[in-house]
Amino acid sequence: MKITVIGAGAVGATTADNLVRRNIAEEIILLDIKEGVAEGKAQDMMQTAALLGFDSKVKGVTNDYLQTAGSAVAVITSGIPRKPGMTREELIGTNAGIVKTVVQNLLEYSPDIIILVVSNPMDTMTYLALKSSGIAKNRIIGMGGALDSARFKFQLASQLNASANDLNAIVVGGHGDTTMIPLIKHATWNSIPVTHFLSEEEQEAIVHKTMVGGATLTALIGTSAWYAPGAAAAAMVESIVRNQNRVFTASVYLEGEFDQEDINIGVPVVINRHGWDRIVPLELSEREKQAFAKSADAVRNMNQVLRDNNII
Ligand SMILES: NC(=O)c1ccc[n+]([C@@H]2O[C@H](COP(=O)([O-])OP(=O)(O)OC[C@H]3O[C@@H](n4cnc5c(N)ncnc54)[C@H](O)[C@@H]3O)[C@@H](O)[C@H]2O)c1
Repeated sequence: MKITVIGAGAVGATTADNLVRRNIAEEIILLDIKEGVAEGKAQDMMQTAALLGFDSKVKGVTNDYLQTAGSAVAVITSGIPRKPGMTREELIGTNAGIVKTVVQNLLEYSPDIIILVVSNPMDTMTYLALKSSGIAKNRIIGMGGALDSARFKFQLASQLNASANDLNAIVVGGHGDTTMIPLIKHATWNSIPVTHFLSEEEQEAIVHKTMVGGATLTALIGTSAWYAPGAAAAAMVESIVRNQNRVFTASVYLEGEFDQEDINIGVPVVINRHGWDRIVPLELSEREKQAFAKSADAVRNMNQVLRDNNII
């Protein structure tokens, strides 16, 4: 079993590091266009094998797709990240060209590959990967909701003074500061609704902090985050590789579900060896339905930029 990670920057290298520690693949290929970077980071990771006790191998390569041949899964993290004050949407021009080429290269050497898209603006990049490749919709998955849901659980856990592991909470919709929808009315702490323990003001504050979670870190660090994004991508890859059937919010292609068509947007799905296998039904309130429709409009406007610039 081979897994490829494209982009050996902050998120890509962290994803590879998480994957190699999980011992779920014989080989992980880490690929970057910057000469030597992937090779160096891969060697650094391999030097932790004797300390951490894994047998998986991670190999770094410079833009050599032949090395990725026969991969079961790829994670695309190549592209530029946000700088303070930038929105994810402002990255579209640069990242669209990169993602489209990377998808073509991956498919040339691994025609059956399942692709996880991380590069931003993620919903639009996932849509681009699907439209430009024409492969089955289940093999293209966008990672954003898994991260946003983990951030939502972090905020809930902090407020409730609880363990994040005892929380069940998801974020749906677009992966953007204003488009994501933390579903606080559905969230539970050890099966009890969190609304039982939190005032309306506290709930609103948690939702707000979740939505600006990425921007908060970008302002603090000077670039976008990588630990939680890398861990989220690795958890999704593990569910594919080990056929775990775990549920994650992921950006998938909708054909009428949630009243949406021809769009990739975050909804809860079961992830297994087929990629995203099926959508988990979710009963949304009128207010949540409206928020989802608004979020989809924003993602659709972003997708239009791809058409306006003849990228798809
Ligand atoms: N979906 C999410 O939840 C999420 C979370 C965090 C970051 N991101 C996005 O992930 C992307 C990567 O973020 P980062 O912090 O790792 O950035 P980074 O700058 O640290 O790394 C990006 C890497 O991509 C490489 N690259 C550029 N073009 C390439 C190409 N054509 N082929 C191979 N490699 C190429 C660069 O050399 C660089 O090493 C950004 O678009 C960022 O916005 C998404």
